[in-house]
Amino acid sequence: MSESIHLTRRKTLQLAAGGAVLLGLGPMGCVSQTKAQLEDAPEWLLPLAKSESGGRDYAPRIEGQVPKALNGALYRNGPGLYERSGRRKRHLLDGDGLVQRLSFDNGRARYQNAFVQTPKFIAEEEAQRYLYSTWTTRRAGGPLRNLGGGSMAPQAGVTVYPVGDKLYALDEANPIFEIDPQSLDTLGQRVMGERMPNVKAHTKFDPVTGEWLLAGQDFGRTSSIHSVSYNQAGQRGFQQSLEGQPLMYWHDFLISEHYFIFVLHPCELEPFGMLAGLRSVVDSLRWRPEKGNRIVLMPRAGGEPLYYEAEGAFMWHALNAYERGDEIIADIVTYDNPDHFIGENALLHTLMEGKMGNAEEPGKLRRYIINTRTGTLKEEVLDDGNHEFPFVDPRVVAREHRIGYYAYSGIGAMQTGLKRLDMRTGQDQVFDFGPGTHVGEPVFVNQPGGQIDDGWLISQCLDGDSRNTFFALFDASDLVGGPLAIIWLEHSVPLSFHGWWKGLA
Ligand SMILES: [Fe+2]
Repeated sequence: MSESIHLTRRKTLQLAAGGAVLLGLGPMGCVSQTKAQLEDAPEWLLPLAKSESGGRDYAPRIEGQVPKALNGALYRNGPGLYERSGRRKRHLLDGDGLVQRLSFDNGRARYQNAFVQTPKFIAEEEAQRYLYSTWTTRRAGGPLRNLGGGSMAPQAGVTVYPVGDKLYALDEANPIFEIDPQSLDTLGQRVMGERMPNVKAHTKFDPVTGEWLLAGQDFGRTSSIHSVSYNQAGQRGFQQSLEGQPLMYWHDFLISEHYFIFVLHPCELEPFGMLAGLRSVVDSLRWRPEKGNRIVLMPRAGGEPLYYEAEGAFMWHALNAYERGDEIIADIVTYDNPDHFIGENALLHTLMEGKMGNAEEPGKLRRYIINTRTGTLKEEVLDDGNHEFPFVDPRVVAREHRIGYYAYSGIGAMQTGLKRLDMRTGQDQVFDFGPGTHVGEPVFVNQPGGQIDDGWLISQCLDGDSRNTFFALFDASDLVGGPLAIIWLEHSVPLSFHGWWKGLA
């Protein structure tokens, strides 16, 4: 019996003894226990900020059983390179895109990764130093070299989506990058929409219409919001823009059957220091909760937007939205204060040096109930535990969802477990690996021929003991039963943000 099997069993036993595997119990006890231990030892999280070489291709060791019905590939994307020539990125969220592929074939697994060959990456490889500013780190040379914000270029390191038979890597920029779905070679660039200088990394797929929906934002004295759709043949559909929006940064959005839904939280951009070459984009962000959130409904078919107000709450990611008569239900994850992200002592900044930083605020589950007839918005916090990386079965996007899947527990933006929450009954299931494991986004994989929410979850995790990365595969309906399989990598991989599954046809 291998050491890692022992490790997993030991962990499972620890969890059972410590009450960290929860079924329908209140979450807070678990969160506080894990939080205290995480704060004592942030150093084990450092592999999340350790650059990867790229070019991996091997059969990882599988502990447990991968179901033979699980055939296809999980693609993931995130920053993979954090330093060149002794100059290190200032923030964990900033690095050149590393696309990963974990494929399953009749119970066997294969792991590959590769850097997206953006013009920036190619030029900087050649020069062996950073040539461009990025959104958290100015380039070398002082303010004069960074006037106007410095020269920035896409890193393609946030999301990756299979679209038809193609695969695309995105960050908050246009163009996006086409990747070979088998080899992960970079095939080329594609400009989305027209006159959309920035395309958001998050996009949506409407499972009923088959449309691919993208959004963008650009900045001047105010900001603009853009939306565009593509049909299944890849042809561009309707594009629209909203000018005069607050000068702030947002990351994700929602769709319902008839609307794009934008949550404009008061994460304001103060551009003067950036334009003077003195500050990066992220160092120019300010949290102004007293200004509240502006919720914008942009009709997908065009027409006048609808505006609503809500409490100031920061949103990285949205679960899903749907329409119910005159109402729109929008479920999101929010922070009262994005203290893990903004400010000198934010955890995602201090972690680059192996130090603890601010991450006090949990990612709460928040629901907006918007009535388009009365023009009102009601909001409630459904769960004030620490959540991130919400995911639904892709077949219910923009339609009523019952189950939400989340990375859960731990401290702000750093989770140690997974949660399945029945949004109708409030019943939850949690599997918490406990302090010493970082748990990423649970990607839902539908079972071929199965009903809605029949399937598996695959989460990329970091094991603090071995400092290696593993993928945990769960039955999506039975988290408490523990992982069906652990797929162990031979090394660590930096923080991976987002993934998507592509089943074999
Ligand atoms: Fe994201």
